[in-house]
Amino acid sequence: MTATRKCRLVVLISGRGSNLQAILDQAASGELPVDIVAVISNRPGVQGLERARQASVPALELDHKAFPDRPEFETALSKLIDRQYPDLVILAGFMRILTPGFTGHYRGRLLNIHPSLLPKFPGLHTHERALTAGDTEHGATIHFVTEELDGGPIIVQARVPVLPNDDPDTLAARVLAQEHRLYPQAIRWFAEGRVRLAGEQVEFDGQPLTAPLRLESFAG
Ligand code: GRF
Repeated sequence: MTATRKCRLVVLISGRGSNLQAILDQAASGELPVDIVAVISNRPGVQGLERARQASVPALELDHKAFPDRPEFETALSKLIDRQYPDLVILAGFMRILTPGFTGHYRGRLLNIHPSLLPKFPGLHTHERALTAGDTEHGATIHFVTEELDGGPIIVQARVPVLPNDDPDTLAARVLAQEHRLYPQAIRWFAEGRVRLAGEQVEFDGQPLTAPLRLESFAG
């Protein structure tokens, strides 16, 4: 945002929160110019909430099961989020499908991480599916969220090799290690104003992206 005001970040989670941890760590060390103003989980009692508390970040629960339907849950979720006045909202292992009303409200300031090289393998079980397809390369993607599930404009991807003896767990672990570098990088670019959504296109340093950025090209 500016030298005096950091990007206000809300993180939505549903579970373990290892991506959240990577972001908390980089924010605490000053590498990431964000104020994590709240972590919100739709599942009570998950590990990610504890990680937030350990970092003295407000950890909020909003159990989707307490609501009669998806729109009512999302209305309550939006209220909770908007009360934090976020500049950026990120999905970090948030396992609820979002309706167009919600994604439209946060258009251009809502990011997701997905464990595949989108547009390959939207949805679940991405590591199994990469192995079944015989792919030699796999990875993770950060994209702006639009109404199409895992289908919004892509910012950046990290690639890993698929090795001969991989099973879904070994492959997932290799991808996850990259996810922990990928999300902080994308958030940093957003917070610095280097990445934005212009219509249907991602702009990086004022130029439309013609292909996803590759994390390897920026690794320091
Ligand atoms: C990650 O693999 C992420 O890509 C996917 O869900 C997983 C969340 O892991 N959307 P964690 O909760 O951040 O550890």
